[in-house]
Amino acid sequence: MMTKPPLDKGSPIFGHSIKFNNDALSLVKNLQNKYGDIFEISILNQRVTMFMTPSATRHVYLDAEDNFSSKHGWEFSLGKTFENGLMLRDFDDHKFHRGLMQDSFRRDALKNYLMIIQPILDEWIENLKKNKSFDLYKTMKGLMFKISLELFFDEVDNSRQKELERLFTEAIKSATSVVRLPLPFTKLRKGLKARQELLKYFEEKAKTVDTSSKTLFSELVKTNKHEAGLSNFEIAEHMIFLLLAAHDTTTSTLTSAIHHISTNKSFYEELKNESETIELTDISDLKNGIKAESLFSEAMRKYPPVPFSVRYVMRDTIVENYKLDAGTYIAIGPLVLHNDERYWENPKDYNPNRFLGSNDLNEAYFPFSGGAHTCLGKFFASYLFKNVVYKLTSNFEGIHSEKELFINPAPIPYPRKDVKITIS
Ligand code: HEM
Repeated sequence: MMTKPPLDKGSPIFGHSIKFNNDALSLVKNLQNKYGDIFEISILNQRVTMFMTPSATRHVYLDAEDNFSSKHGWEFSLGKTFENGLMLRDFDDHKFHRGLMQDSFRRDALKNYLMIIQPILDEWIENLKKNKSFDLYKTMKGLMFKISLELFFDEVDNSRQKELERLFTEAIKSATSVVRLPLPFTKLRKGLKARQELLKYFEEKAKTVDTSSKTLFSELVKTNKHEAGLSNFEIAEHMIFLLLAAHDTTTSTLTSAIHHISTNKSFYEELKNESETIELTDISDLKNGIKAESLFSEAMRKYPPVPFSVRYVMRDTIVENYKLDAGTYIAIGPLVLHNDERYWENPKDYNPNRFLGSNDLNEAYFPFSGGAHTCLGKFFASYLFKNVVYKLTSNFEGIHSEKELFINPAPIPYPRKDVKITIS
């Protein structure tokens, strides 16, 4: 029998928006206790049906019948700042753009990106040697920005770096702002302004970029084949979305992972030993780095960088016996599934070893989504993660921190308070 999901509107004005931003996992778990795995809530003034089962999550990501729009789902939060980015495109249009962009993520291109970032990683290590301590999240964010400057912005002279960092930060911040109208002084207004300036930068730069330079930007510019490929404006739009897709995701994953190894000496040692067998720009070597892979997998399990995915229902359809009307929103939640006792042993524990020794994939694990919108940067993200972790462990005897790291897992994971890491 088909039914309608139970509705919980939350508080009269804000619905569940504030609770969601403060502690999304507890909010959803409480609602699950009350209603089961499928229910409807009100958030950012929209009614959203939540499906917290592995089978519904797979069904929605795979979307065999083109029922669910990623574009209209994500524009709900990413709004106009990231308009026409890959995740903000659907179906045939998305397929066309993804097909052209995919070439910039081929194996030899990724190897070139890894070569380009080596001097940045070395400089980072030299600074750590001098300072002997660092603020974890802040440092990871800074490092990921430096890497973006090199790979995404392409040869920026020093005088422009600060300005680009500001634009980049304002664009990204607007993605998580609760106020979704571009009113004066809001994050969204600043984000939209930053988008205009970034578009101008990338569009101009696309005309002059050295296409033999092997950065991600120059690879993407090579897809400009006029009518048969992407225009410089479309490339600029993709670049802005790529900045968002690549930055906070890798920053948060590295933050919780490095915190974990700062409190677990034996795991640190094992990674240090593994690093001796790995050449950091050799993709086969990197793939074989299973200890680092387990750390990467666990970081994304506990705090998935994309904790929820939203989709817009294009036509009346049925999911798990629930009737969904066209024009409504649905959400699926890797964050909730990854922390559910029914699918994971002691999910509260940060334990990379759970990913070692078994090749069976857990049915409730969706760090990179699935189907047409599967993360395009997932291999690069893993190689970048391993490069940072191996550089650290191969250069230092140990790293330590005294404090626990409290991460607020949504709308994107970030620590409530940064922690200091000391180096020995
Ligand atoms: C730990 C790091 C990362 C994680 C966990 C992650 C996760 C995800 C997820 C879950 C999605 C799809 C969301 C949805 O379907 O609703 C996605 C999309 C995407 N990601 Fe990543 N991402 C990471 C890093 C990166 C990096 C480094 C890049 C690029 C250099 C990147 C590029 C993209 C792109 C282009 C898309 C859109 C794909 C499409 O719509 O076809 N990601 N990512």
